Amino acid sequence: MAETEDPRFVDYVSEAKYLLTYETEALSQISKALLTSELSIQALSRVFVALETAALEHPEVAEAIEDAELDPTSFSYIGYDLRDFLQVMVELDSMLAADPDYAHGQFRYRPVRLMEVGCGPGRNLFILQNGGLLLWSTIEGIDVVQPYIDVARSSFNLGDSVWQDDARTLDYSPYDVVFSHRPFSDARAQADYEKRLVSQMKTGAYLVAPLNETHAQDSRLVSLGDTEVIWKRL
Ligand SMILES: C[S@@+](CC[C@H](N)C(=O)[O-])C[C@H]1O[C@@H](n2cnc3c(N)ncnc32)[C@H](O)[C@@H]1O
Repeated sequence: MAETEDPRFVDYVSEAKYLLTYETEALSQISKALLTSELSIQALSRVFVALETAALEHPEVAEAIEDAELDPTSFSYIGYDLRDFLQVMVELDSMLAADPDYAHGQFRYRPVRLMEVGCGPGRNLFILQNGGLLLWSTIEGIDVVQPYIDVARSSFNLGDSVWQDDARTLDYSPYDVVFSHRPFSDARAQADYEKRLVSQMKTGAYLVAPLNETHAQDSRLVSLGDTEVIWKRL
């Protein structure tokens, strides 16, 4: 009698091959979907960077930016990689939704008041205002360079939600979320700014701070996730 005719015989190899065919098909569909979404994000990011570049390269704007006197300890405008920005905001959204401090009877979480420190021409704020990435009550930004604020108002329609101000003197106490992507090139200036910022932030507020100088050593902050970019004020 052939093995396969015995009712007790289980053909594990054929069964595994059968299952594997379906798993392989499913994995291939998932990988195609991931590739499509990755390419779409990259394309949209390039479009936004092109829009921003066009606004900043307008001769009058470029001249005004060149004329603006920037403190030598400051970075001039270097936009955060948009893919990273989108990713970190999606991550922040999940954290806020899971955080009892932000619980809300009606929404996934209490809409947040957000500040971008050194917002440049306002691309990130425009994306946050229009992209539905976060639930927000107010989205605001400051930059020390007035011509960037002018572009944020004229090209990204941000009006009075952006203004010229100095990161070293701003009051951070009203904000639930502060996004701060390295305004200062000088390590000491960045560290001094960070200490003041953290001391003013309210308990429970979130800080999104790529390329920071001191947050890992600051006992008033706890790192959330595994990138050391998102922090919560204790
Ligand atoms: C590295 S860029 C970050 C730009 C933007 N936040 C982003 O992540 O896409 C630093 C920004 O900080 C601004 N900046 C530098 N010193 C500042 C200060 N003292 N107060 C406010 N903004 C400042 C610069 O003009 C520049 O737009």
